[in-house]
Amino acid sequence: MSQIRLREDVSAAPDTCVEDAVVKVRGICKTYGDVEALRNVDLDVARGKLTTLLGPSGCGKTTLLKIVAGLVPATRGEIRVNGKVVTGPGPERAFVFQDFALMPWATVMRNVAFGLELKGVGEAERRRTAQRYIDEVGLSGFETKYPHELSGGMKQRVGIARAFAVNADVLLMDEPFSAVDEQNRRKFQEDLLRLVALERKTFIFVTHSIEEAVYVSDRIVLLSPRPGRISQVIDPAIDRSASPDEIRRDPGYLDTVEEIWNGLRHYAE
Ligand SMILES: Nc1ncnc2c1ncn2[C@@H]1O[C@H](COP(=O)(O)OP(=O)(O)OP(=O)(O)O)[C@@H](O)[C@H]1O
Ligand SMILES: [Mg+2]
Repeated sequence: MSQIRLREDVSAAPDTCVEDAVVKVRGICKTYGDVEALRNVDLDVARGKLTTLLGPSGCGKTTLLKIVAGLVPATRGEIRVNGKVVTGPGPERAFVFQDFALMPWATVMRNVAFGLELKGVGEAERRRTAQRYIDEVGLSGFETKYPHELSGGMKQRVGIARAFAVNADVLLMDEPFSAVDEQNRRKFQEDLLRLVALERKTFIFVTHSIEEAVYVSDRIVLLSPRPGRISQVIDPAIDRSASPDEIRRDPGYLDTVEEIWNGLRHYAE
């Protein structure tokens, strides 16, 4: 069974403290003009785990991820990554954007290697590392193609390979699979789990999909509708050694999906 801490009252947020937290979010508030996007968010993100932000459209998932990335300033509160206060983007964090954000004038190879280029890594090593992740995400043979020659799913793979290539501790992924069809989405989820197991990095992942969240996450943080506040924390207990089909039929998996549905229904009523 998954461990679910249900809260009736979202003004008293659940405790997310973990022992080995890489990212510590403390009292984060964000307003855009007169829109209150996030209210008082506290969150610990465990090292080497995949933590998912799940919640209705407009609840501030992208905003929270961008604040952790240092791309958007918080109105109030503080983020620490490996103990250091975030004041802007840094090499220990890599972002996979909802809309890919590839450089249209650059090939797949150049796009994937770009972060390494910025870090001053030499060309031979850059190509070696980029090639490894291009192969890892299944884009071998497409190294010299440009973004406009790729499907949405392939572009997203370039974004993922780019994030892995810079060897950041923390990968921030904003709905990386939303632009792909259901069949490819499942394949991507499996690829992601393989990369998570292989790389032992820390992931903060955003999705709209309850099934996807339960399938890939060590921990799911459910946000309330705007202003986003943490309403529930769910640790799905999934046996990752089972096959993807077995996992999706597992009563523990199905119960967790159902319990999250029930939690969200609470907001819809
Ligand atoms: N740059 C911005 N300027 C003004 N308002 C913004 C800006 N970015 C986000 N917002 C507002 O803040 C709220 C949260 O937006 P955000 O994009 O973080 O939500 P989200 O949970 O990622 O939504 P979705 O699931 O649709 O991607 C929304 O009401 C949105 O309109
Ligand atoms: Mg978003």
